[in-house]
Amino acid sequence: MMAKFILYHIKQTNEFILKRILIFPGSQRKQSLNHRLATHFASFLKQEFYAEILEADTVDLPLFNQDLENNPGVINKVKPVYEHFLNADGLIVVSPEYNGSVSPYLKNTVDWISRLPRILANEGYINPFHGKPLLLASATPGQSGGILGLQSARNLFTYLGGLILAEQITLPYAVDAWEDDGSLDPYLNAYIEQTLNRFGIVVKNIAIVPQS
Ligand SMILES: Cc1cc2nc3c(=O)[nH]c(=O)nc-3n(C[C@H](O)[C@H](O)[C@H](O)COP(=O)(O)O)c2cc1C
Repeated sequence: MMAKFILYHIKQTNEFILKRILIFPGSQRKQSLNHRLATHFASFLKQEFYAEILEADTVDLPLFNQDLENNPGVINKVKPVYEHFLNADGLIVVSPEYNGSVSPYLKNTVDWISRLPRILANEGYINPFHGKPLLLASATPGQSGGILGLQSARNLFTYLGGLILAEQITLPYAVDAWEDDGSLDPYLNAYIEQTLNRFGIVVKNIAIVPQS
């Protein structure tokens, strides 16, 4: 009984001490390649971080419309999503490229979250992206790997004050990237793990300074 209690306590303490990395897949699609890549990241990062994927059913926000800013039911749905971003020590966005830009789902989520401090002025909400270490990644079925979408994502999160890693992860020809046993090509995997490790060093060592 005592051992069980101690184990539970260690687990809780570790989860408290471990830095949190939130992974946001920018696709709601059930067979999403980007979600699959997000899962790959999470299983690697879980060795050293509390890594959590923000699932689409947790987000579930309507298309942004400024008229809805006065709708308490909608705002109450935005708040828990905002908390996920705020509480993260680092953020990984793994998003498809749509017509050379970011996915509407990613943009919509970010638009809602970025508005909350204005909608609920004087309630202590801050910009959760400001100063936050951020890694960008994209998977596409084609050869581009989503490079244009990542450039748009970089503009978006730069505008919001994110601390964006220069390196990014692109996965072209993603439909065929995984072997039957769920593994990736060893060279590709080494590149991914190297980039995640570099990002992890930033997350562990950077102090997030909130916007004044
Ligand atoms: C509206 C739309 C626009 C797209 N535009 C691009 C594009 O600009 N570049 C690209 O590589 N793929 C593009 N695609 C293909 C997506 O990369 C592909 O559907 C991908 O699987 C979506 O990501 P997911 O698997 O994570 O849902 C587009 C798909 C849709 C539906």
